[in-house]
Amino acid sequence: MLPAPCRYLDIEEVIIPHTRGCYTLNVDAAVAAVDENTIAVACIVGNTYTGSYDDVATLNQRLTEVNERNGWDVGIHVDAASGGFVAPFVTAQKDIVWDFRLPLVRSINASGHKYGLCYPGIGWVVFADQKYCPEELGFSVSYLGGKQNHMSLNFSRSASGVAGQYYMFLRLGIDGYRRVIEGCFMVRQYLVTQLLETGWFELLGDPTQSTGVPCLTLSLRQKVAGLPVEAASGAGSSLGQPLNPKPAEAAAGAGAGAAAGTVHRNVVHFNGKPTFTVYDLCQRLKERMWVIPGEYCV
Ligand SMILES: Cc1ncc(COP(=O)(O)O)c(C=O)c1O
Repeated sequence: MLPAPCRYLDIEEVIIPHTRGCYTLNVDAAVAAVDENTIAVACIVGNTYTGSYDDVATLNQRLTEVNERNGWDVGIHVDAASGGFVAPFVTAQKDIVWDFRLPLVRSINASGHKYGLCYPGIGWVVFADQKYCPEELGFSVSYLGGKQNHMSLNFSRSASGVAGQYYMFLRLGIDGYRRVIEGCFMVRQYLVTQLLETGWFELLGDPTQSTGVPCLTLSLRQKVAGLPVEAASGAGSSLGQPLNPKPAEAAAGAGAGAAAGTVHRNVVHFNGKPTFTVYDLCQRLKERMWVIPGEYCV
């Protein structure tokens, strides 16, 4: 979530886009984008779309070579908003090296309100060394009889998030977090099996999520939607627009020889099969209080 700090601190952000079928950082492209003005390469452990982990170890290795070749000192920030509270606890992921064991990793953030199991309002950033958190960025004021250090735009704020997180640490401990997160993986596996059995979906990303958080990302199968792949994965629709394609549009999208569609209980049927986009599905789930995001896939 770089846009805010980049705007406030006047930093140019260079985005390395994902490509269809590859939902983690393209390390070659990231390293190629580094130059003498690069502050850091940010990578994600548990990305927002598929929950997959970027290969931080390979990035560390490739960036070390680039630094040595050019006499640079470009470090890595790991955005572990989701994975920070998953990877350390899951037995199957304990050998994934993505943290301060890698010399170039200088800072890591994690959200307390995701797998940290707290209410929103608490998040963490940890630095490999105090020198990576320059004093000039913070403020130290003498206030109410003591020295107060802070590093934010506002000053007074609630400590309830910290207390809540501390409670969860004490209440669950390492073993408790492991049980909760491993339970999430079992639920994920169950959902994967059940949803794939419907024949409507295909899974994007790693089926076992061995390097990812316990979430799943699906796209509609082309033959179910009765539309070209682009339309089936949402390209033909966007949020805020009419969700169900009109039968005529569905027929046009399906190509020559397609029979006309009919509308049956608000779902467009095409050749006897329901024809809809992922946005229709999101809308229907939202009506039942399930907030499942639909995204346009590259
Ligand atoms: C990869 C990633 N980074 C950062 C954030 C933002 O974290 P927070 O909500 O704790 O500010 C999110 C989602 O909220 C995220 O998915």
